Parts: sequence; C-alpha cells; structure tokens
Amino acid sequence: MNIGAAVIPAAGLGTRFLPTTRSVPKVLLPVVDVPVIHLAVAEAAAAGIGRVIVIVSPGQEAVVDYFRSIPALEEALERRGRGDLLDLMIETAGMAEIESVVQDEALGLGQAVLTSRPLVGEEPFAVILPDDVIWRTPPTIGVMAEMARKMDANVIAVREAPSEMLSSLGVADAAPIGGHLYNVRGLVEKPKPEDAPSNLAIVGRYVLMPEVFELLERTEPGAVGEIQLTDAVAGLLSSQRVYAYRFPGFHVDVGTPSGLLKASIYESLQRPTLAREIKTWFSDLA
Ligand code: G1P
Repeated sequence: MNIGAAVIPAAGLGTRFLPTTRSVPKVLLPVVDVPVIHLAVAEAAAAGIGRVIVIVSPGQEAVVDYFRSIPALEEALERRGRGDLLDLMIETAGMAEIESVVQDEALGLGQAVLTSRPLVGEEPFAVILPDDVIWRTPPTIGVMAEMARKMDANVIAVREAPSEMLSSLGVADAAPIGGHLYNVRGLVEKPKPEDAPSNLAIVGRYVLMPEVFELLERTEPGAVGEIQLTDAVAGLLSSQRVYAYRFPGFHVDVGTPSGLLKASIYESLQRPTLAREIKTWFSDLA
C-alpha cells in the first residue's frame, strides 16, 4: 500500500488571529521562527511522503510561495558567508513537491479535503491539520502510515481530552486493542457533552483510503453547518476498518493565540540556545 500524498488543509479566514491575518495567512504564523505550514510539510517529508497538496483560500498564494526557492536571497546569504541559513533555505524549498488547490468557499474540513480528490487520485493518502503541532520523533504521521500499511486500514490520531473540550472536537467511540491502538466503532463531530462517546478526541492526523472521497461527495453539512471529515470517516466504518492511534509526544493546538504562544514557549524550551534565556526571564517575571 502506497501513501500517495499528504493533504494539508490551510484555507480559512484565521479570524482568531485578526488583525494579523488581514494580510498574513494563518499557517504562516510562526512557532518561534518556523511557520506552522513548514512544520506540517516537514512532518510529511520526514515520514517519506514527498508529495504535498496544500489547500488554500483565494488570495493566499503566499502559502505556496513560501516553499519556492529564492535565488537572490540564496546568493546574498552565500556572499555573507551564512552557509547555515543558506542550507536552511535550500532545505525548505526542497522539502517536498508542493501542489495547491484553492478552496473557493469555506464549507468545512470535509469539503476542503474533497477539493484535493483530483490530485490525490485513487491511492491512500495522509491528512495533516497544521493547527495540530506534535513534537515527536519518529513523526506521528509516519507511524500511522506504517500502521495503515500493515493493517490495510484507515488510521486516525486521538488523544485524551478534558471533557469541556470535547464539544469542539471530533470524538471516537473506540475499544482498546493494545499498543496505543483502538478499534473505532463510531465517530461524532463536536458532540454535546452528554453525547460524547468517550474522552478520545481526534487530533489532526489521518491516513485514509480513497473511498472516503465517495463518502465526502455525499456528506451533508453536519456540526456547525459544515461538511465534516469526521462524518465521512464514520461512513467508512460500514465497509472498512478504522483504527485510532493514541499517539505519544507533546501536542498543542496552535489554532488560537494562546495555543500558538504555548507552542512557541514549549519549542523555545527544547532549544538549548533559547531555553536558558526564557527560563531565566520567566523566573525573573515571577
Ligand atoms: C477538526 C476536526 C475535528 C478534530 C480537530 C482537531 O476540527 O473536524 O474532528 O478533533 O480538527 O484539531 P476543527 O478544528 O476544524 O473545528
């Protein structure tokens, strides 16, 4: 089983980050100094998925431009003897083969993924939601791709979430089968607190069979009036197996200003060059 491509839905108004997102697409906002879209593409590349399909809103070409090489900048860095940055520029532009699709209207995550159908074709594919940043080696999507290959099944990522969070997430009805894996029996998008089947919430990593596109074509708007990927994956359950992977590693939803800030703080603590300064500053602040 070959995972043909990684789909990265990056459309959306980014209203939580206004006014910045008036002119900067949300996925170009950085965790310390690296845009979240870069982290998502790097995760796909580290998992050996070299073809990436980014779904953008009209007018957000800057997201795709980010991955182009910039010869004038590379020459300038070379002249200044900044081989370190030159390597970073070359690596960024060469990380993956990037294609893009424009999602004209924001009709939901399911609809966004559906727009990638002509490019994905009839192969299993990965979906990475750039709002969900996971610190983990080996990359979570790579571990999931391996599981999907071994079991010839769909795999979605989940984590235990506090009950007050469940109504804004997808939630799995799933039975543990060992080794961080669960057999999924049902999925509900943004359930009312009393309807949540468990505390296992979907995190934005999926390895899906191409049959999900057929279901997405037929999926009616669901939670919050949008076409939900969760509903289509739930539809797969009548003909295919879906496993949930409770991934290890540190996860932050960077879809809110506080989340993006937490991610930057966590990342800065991972970097020896920044960690001391930040820790000292925090203790002085306290
Ligand atoms: C989407 C999915 C949801 C999932 C979440 C993870 O929701 O629909 O199932 O739990 O991502 O970040 P959204 O964040 O688009 O509301």
